[in-house]
Amino acid sequence: MPLPTRVRLIDVGPRDGLQNEKQPVPAAIKIELVHRLQDAGLREIEVTSFVSPKWVPQMGDNAEVMHGIRRREGVRYSVLTPNMKGFEAAIAAPRAEWPDEIVVFGAASEAFSQKNINCSIAESIERFAPVVEAARAKGIAVRGAMSCTVGCPYEGDIAPEKVGYLAGLMKGIGVARVDVADTIGVGTPRKVQAALEATLAHFSVDEVSGHFHDTYGQALSNTLAALELGVWNHQSSVAGLGGCPYAKGATGNVATEDVVYMLHGMGIDTGIDLDALIDTGVFISQALGREPNSRASKAIRTKRAS
Ligand code: HMG
Ligand code: MG
Repeated sequence: MPLPTRVRLIDVGPRDGLQNEKQPVPAAIKIELVHRLQDAGLREIEVTSFVSPKWVPQMGDNAEVMHGIRRREGVRYSVLTPNMKGFEAAIAAPRAEWPDEIVVFGAASEAFSQKNINCSIAESIERFAPVVEAARAKGIAVRGAMSCTVGCPYEGDIAPEKVGYLAGLMKGIGVARVDVADTIGVGTPRKVQAALEATLAHFSVDEVSGHFHDTYGQALSNTLAALELGVWNHQSSVAGLGGCPYAKGATGNVATEDVVYMLHGMGIDTGIDLDALIDTGVFISQALGREPNSRASKAIRTKRAS
């Protein structure tokens, strides 16, 4: 199969990237990050999550962030909503501040489902169903994130059949598209392809995205493996920020800068200005007091300085 000629990247940095950050990050910094990402050409941004602030304190400013962002035409802003309480909070603001898309998030592993959202896979689908219905009734798009599609911190290897089972449940409640997430970054290309293929039995190739954490340094290879299957929607995090609070030791998503560098080098269009993206990664990393976790960023900045 020929590789896709264009790729749509969803930057999940403001949400996945920052949710696990121990130091408080002011809402103004998060808002500025969203603005810089859209100025760099990102057309999909995962902004925040409407989850319990007791579980994930860093996302407790969700409404403030959604209120503060300056919307740009053609950009899709998404937020995580695990239940009706989260969904209602996401639409409590005036319509102009509603998310364009909500994300329900489940897991292919029972143990991870319990740790992350405090319920079984079956219960999670029962909670998601009314959220999906309510969102669709209000004209809000719905995505489903599927965690631990390759490996789980508690259960180890995850069989593709479990991924297919969850994808089928997501499809059954009306989720329009799904993310195949390697939450702890243990996947290697063939395993990731098996998880994607199990998902592609339920969703079309345009409805599936890759979400690869880079814990074992495999995320770019896994992205290429996904492209080989025609999967052209991918999630990444500027400066490689992040990790999931309920997946101990898991590091951030693959850095958006590294994915863009690879794709542009292969002649694949992303619509993203790599230089502006690198500056965005520097901005948020400086705010956090660290270096961007992106090899392409480091190399290009070294070259700029010489
Ligand atoms: P629960 O305790 O089972 O919920 O939590 P509950 O319905 O029993 O309610 C308990 C308390 O939480 C109540 O408050 C509720 O009001 C409150 P209290 O009466 O004790 O004061 N509550 C909420 N507050 C705000 N927003 C809400 C909400 N729901 C209940 N939406 C819940 C269930 C899902 C809320 C909880 O387990 C939770 O917040 N978990 C956090 C999950 C999370 O954010 N994980 C990280 C994101 S997922 C991820 O990173 C993976 C991904 O990137 C893909 C990948 O890489 O794998 C997407
Ligand atoms: Mg993630």
